Amino acid sequence: MKIQKYTPKYEDSWLRCRVLAYLYTSMYEDVETSKPTFEGRPSIELIAIEDGIVVGLLDMVLDTEELKTSFLAKGLGAFLKVIAVHPDYQSKGIGRKLYETALNELESTPIEFIELYTRGDEQANNFYKKLGFELLAETYDVFGVEKSLSKPISINGIENKMLKATYENGEPCDYILVDGVYEVYDLKALDNIEYDRYYPARGYYKKVK
Ligand SMILES: CC(C)(COP(=O)(O)OP(=O)(O)OC[C@H]1O[C@@H](n2cnc3c(N)ncnc32)[C@H](O)[C@@H]1OP(=O)(O)O)[C@@H](O)C(=O)NCCC(=O)NCCS
Repeated sequence: MKIQKYTPKYEDSWLRCRVLAYLYTSMYEDVETSKPTFEGRPSIELIAIEDGIVVGLLDMVLDTEELKTSFLAKGLGAFLKVIAVHPDYQSKGIGRKLYETALNELESTPIEFIELYTRGDEQANNFYKKLGFELLAETYDVFGVEKSLSKPISINGIENKMLKATYENGEPCDYILVDGVYEVYDLKALDNIEYDRYYPARGYYKKVK
């Protein structure tokens, strides 16, 4: 196993390692479909290679005097965006090696601290504690719908391939929040939503008798 700087040649292997590493954690929904770049900002981007494939990865983006994204302390910080080891290679010291290599690189920079966020997984929390990180902040990532926003609806048929939905009082319903995702029944409703992206949700049917 060797640790080296990331190069785009390894993007596909990087993505596979990233997805598989997160699959067995509480962060399983946090998937990248292209390798994040840091728009010219100073960064440390490392990979661990074994038999030509990426088995570990680390991305850190560094504060500058002009642009500071860390906020847990004053001064310049390095934000650990991701550290991940392929599930078949975990607990063999690769995570620690990636971290120590990044730490070495930070020595020649003005960075004073490292900041990172994770969820409740024992493996990741143990890992950071073992490396000497201190727990400074605890917030919650909640997936769901605010109670006041959650209203029962009925689906009353299909018109021009769009489902027709109404609230209990019979008023038409253009969209609702389901598991943190807006389900939209009339494209006009998009005017009310600040969205990053949307996809068609397709219902298929086949008669078998
Ligand atoms: C967390 C992760 C990066 C650690 O990398 P790793 O190569 O598996 O860890 P290492 O072998 O270098 O272990 C270093 C320390 O981490 C802790 N650790 C590692 N695996 C652990 C496990 N399964 N359970 C509990 N602690 C564990 C131990 O304290 C270990 O120290 P030790 O070897 O002296 O006991 C890796 O397991 C991983 O990718 N997990 C899934 C993705 C993830 O949670 N990433 C962090 C996102 S914020």
